[in-house]
Amino acid sequence: MDITPQEHGKFGATVEGFDALISPDDDVEAIKQTAYTQKIVVLKNQKLTPQQFVALGRRFGEPEVYYQPMYHHPECKEIFVSSNVPQDGERVGVPQTGKFWHSDYSFMPRPFSLTFIYPQVVPKKNRGTYFIDMGRAYASLPERLKQAAAGTRARHSSKRYFKIRPTDVFRPIGEILAEIEKENPDVFHPTVVTHPVTGEEILYISEALTHELMQKDGTPVDEDVLQELFDSTGQRDTTFTHDNIHLQSFEEGDLLIWDNRSLIHRALHTSTPEPAVSYRVTVMDIHDW
Ligand SMILES: [Fe+2]
Repeated sequence: MDITPQEHGKFGATVEGFDALISPDDDVEAIKQTAYTQKIVVLKNQKLTPQQFVALGRRFGEPEVYYQPMYHHPECKEIFVSSNVPQDGERVGVPQTGKFWHSDYSFMPRPFSLTFIYPQVVPKKNRGTYFIDMGRAYASLPERLKQAAAGTRARHSSKRYFKIRPTDVFRPIGEILAEIEKENPDVFHPTVVTHPVTGEEILYISEALTHELMQKDGTPVDEDVLQELFDSTGQRDTTFTHDNIHLQSFEEGDLLIWDNRSLIHRALHTSTPEPAVSYRVTVMDIHDW
């Protein structure tokens, strides 16, 4: 197995010669450490069934089943399906997912540690995902903003990007919002978290899912602070040329693994979408904030 820095982009590593079925545990450990230190790992030339993909995730941690069944793969509930391609005339998974800056599951008490994406139908053009390393972004903030964020907590909510389900059609919006509030109440995480593996400090906020900052005693932090943090980290750059933004491309056979604590990401979808199908497995390992 060879691990080398990515040729394109701002961070990440490429892995050649890894066989998910027979490679030893030492290789898995080396890849996991690389995912935490380099933030993205691209496993090349993977050919896995859905079941083998879940088994690969299990070698890295505890796969988490997404809380909403409409995203589940019909055979493997641990796989979250993003797809705009019907199968046998039926919708599978959910189209156009994640076109906003977010960290997976930050609106839950226990967010995922690692995200695995295995593209199945790769669009010809405009494929890829934007990433920002919020550890690096935090390190480059002006001292004034670091001070303003220090010791505060951030409220995360799924509400703004909750996808209306087929079963919600004709339901009053207030009833749906009340149901979200009951089943998936907002959560608080520290605004700056310490990565349990690398010890890095990470600004754990995203434009889509973080709604406000509060002092520990519940006093709200001036709204401008959160907006400035979004601006300074590059999340408001609609040209995607901010120095913090990395565009990760992929080709058939690639399987991406990333550090979901450090990175926020945003899908690249165009207004005239091409067929695209992607499978996702998410795992937990250590959780200590
Ligand atoms: Fe995501």
